[in-house]
Amino acid sequence: MTTDRDRICVLGMGFIGLTLATTISEAGFDVLGVDVSQNVIDSLRRKECYFFEPGLNELVERFGGKNLQFSTGIPDRSCNYYIICVGTPVDQETKRPRLDYIRNATHSILPYLKKGDTVILRSTVPMGVSRNFVLKIIEGETDLKAGRDFYFGFVPERTVEGNALYEQKHIPQIIGALDDASAERIETIFGKFNDKRIRVPDIEHAEICKIIDNTYRDVTFAYANQMAMICEELGLDFHAVRQACNNDYARNKIPAPSPGVGGACLTKDPYILIDLCRKLNINTELINAARGINEAIVFNLGKKILNRLTALGRNIYSSKIFIMGFAFKGEPETSDCRFSTTIDLINYLKPFCSELFGYDAVVSKPEIESYGVIYSSVEDGFEGADVVVIMNSHKSHSKLDIKGLAGRSNNPLIFIDCWKLYDKKEIQSYGNIIYSSVGLY
Ligand SMILES: NC(=O)c1ccc[n+]([C@@H]2O[C@H](COP(=O)([O-])OP(=O)(O)OC[C@H]3O[C@@H](n4cnc5c(N)ncnc54)[C@H](O)[C@@H]3O)[C@@H](O)[C@H]2O)c1
Repeated sequence: MTTDRDRICVLGMGFIGLTLATTISEAGFDVLGVDVSQNVIDSLRRKECYFFEPGLNELVERFGGKNLQFSTGIPDRSCNYYIICVGTPVDQETKRPRLDYIRNATHSILPYLKKGDTVILRSTVPMGVSRNFVLKIIEGETDLKAGRDFYFGFVPERTVEGNALYEQKHIPQIIGALDDASAERIETIFGKFNDKRIRVPDIEHAEICKIIDNTYRDVTFAYANQMAMICEELGLDFHAVRQACNNDYARNKIPAPSPGVGGACLTKDPYILIDLCRKLNINTELINAARGINEAIVFNLGKKILNRLTALGRNIYSSKIFIMGFAFKGEPETSDCRFSTTIDLINYLKPFCSELFGYDAVVSKPEIESYGVIYSSVEDGFEGADVVVIMNSHKSHSKLDIKGLAGRSNNPLIFIDCWKLYDKKEIQSYGNIIYSSVGLY
């Protein structure tokens, strides 16, 4: 039951914490959104979202300053729920998960935690971290005992960027609780705004669900990407193969191939599982291979661009390459460029090219320029271009007047439509375009 005194502190106002905090405030609770970054809090207090998520700014405007307050720290003991949503990156050298943000966030609640409160971990973590790390810190550094003095659980975040506000309410929330009383406390909040909750046997099951979800996605994408590379080598069109295989055949759901798998989650969550298994001496060959394929495929694309230019006798250094789509995915749309494979492509091409040109329908001009490319509108990007590459499937990318735009480019234009948004035959019928895609040479 909701009580007058339910006040929820959400720690971490990133992509995940902010969408959860706004959803909970929309459900009527008093929410305190805490972030250690002064810039983040300043912008939220001005009711400005510092990243793009459809509908989010409207919620910040509606509830910000009312039942949704923002702060760089916890001011007092008035909250009785603490939901930890801070980042859990992997170290880029060792590929091992970093728990320092979780540690700091846990320490930050200790002075305020009291009997009857509830602590929920929402960040993606290695299995065992809730019980053996977070709980240990709390029990070791306070007089409070989980199950006796406070409630505890893990509820993984599974929303997709770009549709997060809808999914907070409508995809099942997996609940791993310490005990029945903790599950009931978690239900009090999540049951108020979400359609469907799934209770799993314990906290560890919930922790691993999240990692297994994302590893599954990475592995299936790697399958599609490897098949795409095989078809390219065989001179086949993987898109036609995939369409035929999947068509009216319920057993198949082969995903579309891509110029690599980026984003903050799929590039790290498989490594979290790999790290856990390494410690337990469990084989992870498939997961390692999948990550390797999804990281490497963008370099195939880079090589293809250079080979195509060479085959046309163009000077690579002075060729104009225009790259569209910097966010790590196009649909649902997002401004998130974290671990986008477009950045990998740029870094690969930079040593060969005097300059590169870029555009994104959502990402800001200053951010695009921060990757060392010249920002261009779509029209200016095609102007005199030798190569145009579409890196993500943003809806605006499939509505281009390719015939008209290609008229501005160098003849012939190398047009690489990684998501096969256009029909090869039609594009090539314009006469001045060499068309290819991922999975189609
Ligand atoms: N982004 C996604 O789509 C997504 C989806 C599912 C799960 N997740 C998981 O959710 C977690 C958060 O991801 P994110 O993308 O929101 O991260 P993020 O990096 O966008 O945001 C984390 C925020 O936490 C703040 N922070 C760090 N330490 C803090 C502390 N001690 N107290 C308060 N704030 C602190 C940071 O300043 C930052 O603003 C990660 O574990 C991630 O794997 C993310």
